[in-house]
Amino acid sequence: IKRVTTHTLQEMKARGEKISMLTAYDYSMAGILDAAGIDIILVGDSASNVMAGHETTLPITLDQMIYHASSVVRAVKRAFVVVDIPFGSYQGNSSEALRSTIRIMKESGAHAVKVEGGAEIKESVTRILSAGVPVMGHLGLTPQSIYKFGTYTVRAKEEKEAEKLLSDAKVLEECGCFAIVLEKIPAKLAQKVSETVAIPVIGIGAGAYVDGQVLVVHDMLGITQEFQPRFLRQYADLRGTMLNAVENYIQDVKSKDFPNEKESY
Ligand code: KIV
Ligand code: NA
Repeated sequence: IKRVTTHTLQEMKARGEKISMLTAYDYSMAGILDAAGIDIILVGDSASNVMAGHETTLPITLDQMIYHASSVVRAVKRAFVVVDIPFGSYQGNSSEALRSTIRIMKESGAHAVKVEGGAEIKESVTRILSAGVPVMGHLGLTPQSIYKFGTYTVRAKEEKEAEKLLSDAKVLEECGCFAIVLEKIPAKLAQKVSETVAIPVIGIGAGAYVDGQVLVVHDMLGITQEFQPRFLRQYADLRGTMLNAVENYIQDVKSKDFPNEKESY
């Protein structure tokens, strides 16, 4: 199998083939996504919510992200694996950003890192890139800054914020980022960004006129069901399927139906 690289992704944008991306945080799930043919697996800091049950992405640590990332990498044969640098592991200064990146790359075997922000983190992005590590940007709704904004509503609806976002996207492209995630912004603005920069733009709640789409895998599989934003398309009801299976198991244990003769030694 031919591995997906930053070069593959750039070619996909050039010929108009949309890029598919989903999150994964463990070996079993990553193996399924890779077997299905996903282009990019994001070891997102959404693991803080989905795997650990925290309200925000802020508490997850670098060590925890490395544990998730190394589990994912062991399962993957084809997909390009990107890891979120968690809150507090890159904002301090560019040396801290590089140190965190090197730990992620060495200890997990992942292929790239993702950071939230634009011009503010330009130095860190440049420093990571100069060490030879591909960087994915993330603009719009940036969950690590949730307390600065106060809500998870649509971002960059106003002219000033839209201009800043477009200019940040250009900064990230100039720095040498290989792609940018745009989260929860108007489709028109996302289209403009995608047409302005030459690197792939991957949307989540950013409409159809971008170069690829990303979703949190537990949300699109219907494992988590309390989170229902309008941008989410649910492709399965795994919570329902799993609840049903576990209820049947409990019933079979209680009724002594399980195990039967064939299931015994
Ligand atoms: O952590 C995450 O899952 C993400 C995606 C939503 C882009 O950053
Ligand atoms: Na994230």
